[in-house]
Amino acid sequence: MTKRVAVIGAGPSGLAQLRAFQSAASKGAEIPEVVCFEKQDDWGGLWNYTWRTGVDEFGEPVHCSMYRYLWSNGPKECLEFADYTFEEHFGKAIASYPPRAVLWDYIKGRVEKAGVRDWIRFRTPVRSVTYSDASGKFTVTAHDLAADHVTVEEFDHVVVASGHFSTPNVPYFEGFNTFNGRILHAHDFRDAVEFAGKDILLIGTSYSAEDIGSQCYKYGAKSITCSHRTAPMGFNWPDNWQEVPLLTRVENKTAHFKDGSSIEIDAIILCTGYLHHFPFLSDDLRLKTANRMWPLGLYKGVAWEPNPKLIYLGMQDQFYTLNMFDAQAWYARDVMMGRIELPSSDEMSAHSAAWRERELTLADPEQQIVFQGDYVQELIDDTDYPSFDIDGVNKTFFEWEHHKVENIMGFRNNAYRSLMTGTMSPKHHTPWLDAMDDSKESYLQIDAAE
Ligand SMILES: Cc1cc2nc3c(=O)[nH]c(=O)nc-3n(C[C@H](O)[C@H](O)[C@H](O)COP(=O)(O)OP(=O)(O)OC[C@H]3O[C@@H](n4cnc5c(N)ncnc54)[C@H](O)[C@@H]3O)c2cc1C
Ligand SMILES: NC(=O)c1ccc[n+]([C@@H]2O[C@H](COP(=O)([O-])OP(=O)(O)OC[C@H]3O[C@@H](n4cnc5c(N)ncnc54)[C@H](OP(=O)(O)O)[C@@H]3O)[C@@H](O)[C@H]2O)c1
Repeated sequence: MTKRVAVIGAGPSGLAQLRAFQSAASKGAEIPEVVCFEKQDDWGGLWNYTWRTGVDEFGEPVHCSMYRYLWSNGPKECLEFADYTFEEHFGKAIASYPPRAVLWDYIKGRVEKAGVRDWIRFRTPVRSVTYSDASGKFTVTAHDLAADHVTVEEFDHVVVASGHFSTPNVPYFEGFNTFNGRILHAHDFRDAVEFAGKDILLIGTSYSAEDIGSQCYKYGAKSITCSHRTAPMGFNWPDNWQEVPLLTRVENKTAHFKDGSSIEIDAIILCTGYLHHFPFLSDDLRLKTANRMWPLGLYKGVAWEPNPKLIYLGMQDQFYTLNMFDAQAWYARDVMMGRIELPSSDEMSAHSAAWRERELTLADPEQQIVFQGDYVQELIDDTDYPSFDIDGVNKTFFEWEHHKVENIMGFRNNAYRSLMTGTMSPKHHTPWLDAMDDSKESYLQIDAAE
């Protein structure tokens, strides 16, 4: 009997899993039957933008946390697939910080070429996954929303690739109930134009705060105030941008901060991160973690130690993204196909504990980047995923960091060399601050004119 594998989610991680199996099949291997369940009506995960917020037309929580005018926040050279380059996809070298639509196109290109779309059941959220010791199988319950039909099937393996930047972490601050303006989480932010001419307050200091603040600045916000719990971001911000300590309370439209200062604001955007949220998994299968570099319980960052027939992809906090998901998916494929034998439970825990110990020593982003690079290297050393220059990717990340410190509103104007093809990327001819059109056509046309 052919083994059956359920993949939950057709975002970059789930698609990496499909491509990994298809790649083995194309080299003559016999692969399991793979069924991918995807809640949305198309593939690409977070990169599949929708204007919707809240619940969708079927009453399902909207997955999308992306927004209009979102451009890659890191160089594309750091996330490039080792088996499908940007040059192969676009037929030429393109600039280094593509907008969302361009990256979505690239992500789709590889799986279109692989021909795996019919492995996916779209509009079909997984409702429940349980495991039976007696049968040694998982029972997966899913809801075909279009047909309004619930299915129950058995699988030998389950791959959880449902992402962890979709369910918002929403703290409460005193006075929110009576605030005379709009309060939203970054998950529901869609169009910076809404905040043109407004005084906005952002809570949080990570990528969402940095990028949503920058979007609002670019599209005409009157002022931007960032409130921090731990430390300010410390970039060289424009004049109408300030960083303040944590919000203590809101009174009508006045925000009060820990240092006793206060300002008048029109809107509050909570850039306070996301929850690892798996309502469909039974207790014994559910990963419980904060957003960090080394969640515990996952051997090699993927195999659920209490029951390694269950795989998680992409659950770490991320510097590396697309090619890390690939490294994980190739490794997981080889575990599921019996090409890699897992060690004893004690050995798996000891291995994870050593990575966690090292995670706790990481003092700055550069060390975190090297840590994640070493992790990706360890995975690709064990599979036939094309090897690539991890040290070169790390160095490109370091350059990116320096460019942000030099000019936070201009770092996207830089270009880097592909570590996969060796080609130097062209500079995008319009500075990011002046490039108001984020469409694929505009980005590629502009490039073609160079
Ligand atoms: C605002 C924002 C901007 C980002 N920008 C960048 C960037 O510039 N560069 C970068 O490299 N990374 C960026 N990221 C990181 C992002 O996490 C990864 O690029 C990538 O999308 C993660 O892929 P994933 O497949 O693990 O998860 P996701 O992209 O979240 O995909 C998960 C998929 O699972 C589906 N799903 C969820 N639950 C179920 C269910 N129960 N049943 C069936 N299907 C389900 C979802 O519909 C979705 O399609 C950004 C993240 C956010 C939030
Ligand atoms: N253009 C882009 O490409 C782009 C744009 C946005 C986001 N992203 C991606 O999206 C992912 C998520 O980023 P994120 O910034 O949303 O989440 P995150 O990195 O997990 O950061 C969460 C932030 O919220 C703060 N926070 C949490 N709870 C809080 C509370 N109760 N009070 C005050 N502050 C609180 C944290 O502060 P502490 O430091 O005090 O814990 C931290 O600054 C990242 O992978 C990022 O790369 C990309």
